[in-house]
Amino acid sequence: MHYFEYREGHLYCESVPIREIIEKTKTPVYVYSYRTLERHYQVFDRAFKKIPHLICYSCKANSNIAVMSIFRNLGGGADIVSGGELYRALKANIPADKIVYSGVGKTDEELKSAINANILMINIESEGELDAIARISSRLKREVRVSIRVNPQIDPKTHPYITTGLKKNKFGIIWEDALRLYKKMKNHKYLKPVGISSHIGSQILELSPFLDAVRSLKDMLHELKSLGLEIKYFDIGGGLGITYKDEKAPHPEEYGDVIINEIKDLDVTLILEPGRVIVGNSGILVTKVLYIKEVPGKMFLIVDAAMNDLIRPSLYSAYHEIAPIIDKRDFKRKKVDIVGPICESGDFFAKDRLLPEVDAGEFIALYSAGAYGFSMSSNYNSRPRPPEVLVKDDKFFVIRKRETKMDLIKGESIPDFLRV
Ligand code: LLP
Repeated sequence: MHYFEYREGHLYCESVPIREIIEKTKTPVYVYSYRTLERHYQVFDRAFKKIPHLICYSCKANSNIAVMSIFRNLGGGADIVSGGELYRALKANIPADKIVYSGVGKTDEELKSAINANILMINIESEGELDAIARISSRLKREVRVSIRVNPQIDPKTHPYITTGLKKNKFGIIWEDALRLYKKMKNHKYLKPVGISSHIGSQILELSPFLDAVRSLKDMLHELKSLGLEIKYFDIGGGLGITYKDEKAPHPEEYGDVIINEIKDLDVTLILEPGRVIVGNSGILVTKVLYIKEVPGKMFLIVDAAMNDLIRPSLYSAYHEIAPIIDKRDFKRKKVDIVGPICESGDFFAKDRLLPEVDAGEFIALYSAGAYGFSMSSNYNSRPRPPEVLVKDDKFFVIRKRETKMDLIKGESIPDFLRV
């Protein structure tokens, strides 16, 4: 459920008409619903209430510090994958002991900041990384809590670009190596193996891959216990899918039940790293139709948003529901391609989509844009990135301003020899 709906013919986010927002911000603009974000977090949280757990929101999905603050206020932590995300998490006042850090290519600099911040745990993804953490923590003379991200070699049956738990993927450490590395850390002065983790992919619509991964982690946990290691955190990553079109996504409660049933007798705290399931359907991207262009056999709606603002259709052929912000559900439909102004044929939001007739100057909304929307945006074609707005009840707040032309060249300079 979300809070975007037509009222008297106009699209509202909670109690604010979208029209009112775009009068102020212009388009394109991302609009997020506070109540939806809150509700999605709470539903997910409640699904695990029977067991000790911590929700580390995967902030790569939407890393605006206002959005992160919502989950902080609801008791959540963060799953980060870079020094930049650590910075954001701390700026959002997320307690360090609720931050977990994954990623295959952590630099010395990044590891140092994570160790100094004393985060809950670093999920190690290779032996080289383990050695780097050992070296840095010894130099800093600081203990560091770690876990190994195990690659359970499970097919989550999702898009190949977002599968992460297969043998051929760059993520995690295969079983045999993981065991060896845990043994290697056992008596280390500064490395404290306190957890075990995995993340098998994203937009997963079946429960069985999660179940397989949990069982595999459980086997590993027993092995580690028999080695005398005290593993307190059982991190199963994120990945639960959502409905973009007509997919049947499992309800968080079903997901919760399946997992609780597997791990309820283990003496551990479950860590979850949901991203998309919390923020995906909490946001829309609103864009203006600039031109309607017809060529034989094709009609294009050229809009003022582009692949630099929302890259998912171009990158993954992802489907996003699209509809005018005026209720035209009863209007005649036409097949159109919805495209942006960027000089690439890959710059499209939808192809051969049946859409009610709209005129140039009208506004349309792209749904399910709250996850991996703004966070994957860029400045390609020197397009300033759009603003982000958070709506709560009958108020709205600009939580990120539209970038300016000055922002586009920030940090650039012309060497003297090129000056005229
Ligand atoms: N934990 C780790 C270690 C991850 O790598 C990810 C996502 C998550 C948690 C959160 O997964 P989620 O709950 O959002 O599925 N850009 C792609 C998705 C990439 C996901 C990368 N990792 C997209 O737009 O579909």
